[in-house]
Amino acid sequence: MTDTLSIRDNRTGKEYKLPITDGTIRAADLQQIAVDGEPGLATYDPGFVNTASCRSSITFIDGDAGILEYRGYPIEQLAEHSSFLEVSYLLLYGELPTQEQLDNWVHEITYHTFLHENLKQFIQGFRYDAHPMGMLMASVSALSTFYPDAREVKDPENRTMQITRLIAKMPTLGAFAFRHVQGRPYVYPDNRLSYTANFLAMLFKMSEPTYEADERLVQALEILFILHADHEQNCSTNAVRSVGSAEADPYSAVAAGIGALFGPLHGGANEAVLRMLKRIGRTDHVADFIEGVKDGQERLMGFGHRVYKNYDPRAKIIKKACDDVFEVTGVNPLLKVAQELEKIALQDEYFVKRKLYPNVDFYSGLIYEALQFPPEMFTVLFAIGRTPGWLAQWSELVEDKEQKIARPKQIYTGIRTREFVPIDQR
Ligand code: CMC
Repeated sequence: MTDTLSIRDNRTGKEYKLPITDGTIRAADLQQIAVDGEPGLATYDPGFVNTASCRSSITFIDGDAGILEYRGYPIEQLAEHSSFLEVSYLLLYGELPTQEQLDNWVHEITYHTFLHENLKQFIQGFRYDAHPMGMLMASVSALSTFYPDAREVKDPENRTMQITRLIAKMPTLGAFAFRHVQGRPYVYPDNRLSYTANFLAMLFKMSEPTYEADERLVQALEILFILHADHEQNCSTNAVRSVGSAEADPYSAVAAGIGALFGPLHGGANEAVLRMLKRIGRTDHVADFIEGVKDGQERLMGFGHRVYKNYDPRAKIIKKACDDVFEVTGVNPLLKVAQELEKIALQDEYFVKRKLYPNVDFYSGLIYEALQFPPEMFTVLFAIGRTPGWLAQWSELVEDKEQKIARPKQIYTGIRTREFVPIDQR
């Protein structure tokens, strides 16, 4: 027996019975609830706070319990035992790869890391102080002009090709954007290195024949990539799905996701956290800053989440990764400021009442800074990590028979049908 919801429309006295499936009602079922001559009932949900936009089997979050799982595997286990490319495979194909599948996958990714030389020139065209996220967004979008076959979105083999290319090229694009700002020559990929070690080499290599990053730092960055790899229907994934729903190619869809991620309320928060910590500067300034937040003068960046109303499980893992990184690089003095902020906020009624806890971005910036990244690069790192998630979500959307082009309704609040007024009479 299907569960149902009975509704009585007090305007008309009519009664309706709507099926409940998966804890939801279909918004389209509300359309039958109408007063004569008027459009049927719709829902109003700015920011999609209580609207499911798709069915998905990729990522599960229980925000109250602080649980995050990719394809059913808890994030803590993946962060401890997996590599980023193994997790990417899991997100995309639903199962952990066998050794042979993983070897092939790593080989494919490794051999698609190079960029067309024209793309290098494209990046060179940006101003010396261009934000790397702007360069990344534009160059991912430009990839669609290099691979026009990517528009064949209904062809599964073609999709796999573009997915491989994009995951492979993201670190190269991110590294070129970084080197551009530094005014340093671009470093080509080194196929002997792992995905993350190669990325660090493209960022930091100078005249040495091979750049060898400290393995502990490589591991910390791998973990950060894993933690960022997917997060179900967040703002940027929603942007990817929305653009993808028009059957645009994946480069265009992911470029839209990068644009969304750039915003300080989303991926840009890690950059904003570090700037905030620098501005606070000392632990004895923390109490004043918290008062400013409570007065509405400030926002405590890196705190709060639409879904997590408990400690973000990713923040817990990152906090631990901080210790490993600081063992190599020495402790970031801003760690003390962050810890003091967290201590005070977790005890303060303002934050307790609103269930505001540290999110993924609260401690990640400290690690990135210790790894020598300038704040403008933080969100680029987030984007590289999130790419497999965006692509897994895009693939799922393309294959989903229930999906339609994204096209929300509006409540029109403007003036209706007026006579045009000539300019000399206004
Ligand atoms: N500092 C101070 N007050 C806050 C904060 C914060 N960081 N976050 C939420 N609040 C307050 C907010 O003012 C509101 O108070 P009131 O009920 O008195 O109006 C209440 O808490 C509920 O907040 P909301 O803005 O309605 O919540 P939301 O779900 O729309 O926003 C959020 C979620 C993440 C945008 C928000 O918590 C925020 O702006 N946090 C800071 C930015 C940040 O760290 N973003 C990264 C999110 S995690 C990674 C990612 O998604 O990219």
